[in-house]
Amino acid sequence: MRPDLWAPEPGFLNTASYGLPPRPAVDAMQGMLDEWQAGRTSWEPWDRSVDRARDSFARLVGVPVADVAIGATVSGLLGLVAAALPAGARVVVPDVEFTSNLFPWLVQAGRGVEIATVPLDRLADAIDDRTTLVAFSLVQSASGEVAPAAEITAAARHHGALVVVDGTQACGWLPIDATAFDALAVHAYKWLMSPRGASFLYVRDSLRDRMRPEAASWYAGADRAASYYGPPLRLAAEARQFDTSPAWMSWIGTAPALEVIEQIGVPVIHDHDVRLASRLREGLGLPPGDSAIVSADIPAAEAKLAAAGIRASARAGRTRLACHIYTTEQDVDAAVSALAGGRA
Ligand SMILES: Cc1ncc(COP(=O)(O)O)c(C=O)c1O
Repeated sequence: MRPDLWAPEPGFLNTASYGLPPRPAVDAMQGMLDEWQAGRTSWEPWDRSVDRARDSFARLVGVPVADVAIGATVSGLLGLVAAALPAGARVVVPDVEFTSNLFPWLVQAGRGVEIATVPLDRLADAIDDRTTLVAFSLVQSASGEVAPAAEITAAARHHGALVVVDGTQACGWLPIDATAFDALAVHAYKWLMSPRGASFLYVRDSLRDRMRPEAASWYAGADRAASYYGPPLRLAAEARQFDTSPAWMSWIGTAPALEVIEQIGVPVIHDHDVRLASRLREGLGLPPGDSAIVSADIPAAEAKLAAAGIRASARAGRTRLACHIYTTEQDVDAAVSALAGGRA
């Protein structure tokens, strides 16, 4: 598991908010700061981190790298998919969905795209012949609930609907085969333990052909170095035609973080995270679960955790605790004893 690669202070249970970088990511970013301060290098070596990270992400979710675009946010990338929907399209989304995978669809309502929100457990049933697209998070942000992705995807395929998935709370601990979906968007700053500002979009070529690179720049050019000035439009044929020019610092931290995850292996991380989350559930008297995120309704939880120096988050009126690769049994047991004696 390489615990030596992380340096958390005890009591960090907040990866659902932001993940902690492994040492190679911190070292790379510190190295870049030195180079930048001294003006020691051109930017091209920094930029290579983008393609390293793209390659790593493609391997992590089992797709061809040619089908992966990069951007700064999930919402920005999903906005490109949403803009490709024809007027009259019907989109179905869980009613508890994090808004980065809801607002991009809702803003299309003005031009005749219809959006229906339904409870997550009724999502598959809500897909019918009128459904153009179903969008959902593999793991819900507030509750940590793992979506019944196979069931939803099967219903979508049966009715000819597209499947668009937000993997931000899943990718890094839950094994993902993105080839089952038409698109998968992931922000790397949580479970992929990267800086904020590095996001990926896998998009199947049949969907890509319907999309327009609304924010194209030199970075989306077929030959970047020959795309700085003047017409004609000359974009890459691959998904990177949807790239926006990267904030280098973010990507310099992201490439090594993803490589560390690959070296350790997502199945190993999954087993560790779910084992600790299960210990936490058991300690809190909650039913067993299959997620790395634990959601509990505990009176005065925020104050109790703060008093014990434990960092977690409050979501939808409940306490959200998250276990990742650097979480220890001591972290979990400290949270249980801090929260003991007051669960509703
Ligand atoms: C499920 C999910 N998707 C996306 C995001 C981030 O979205 P964006 O990249 O648009 O800020 C978050 C952050 O909390 C999230 O929990």
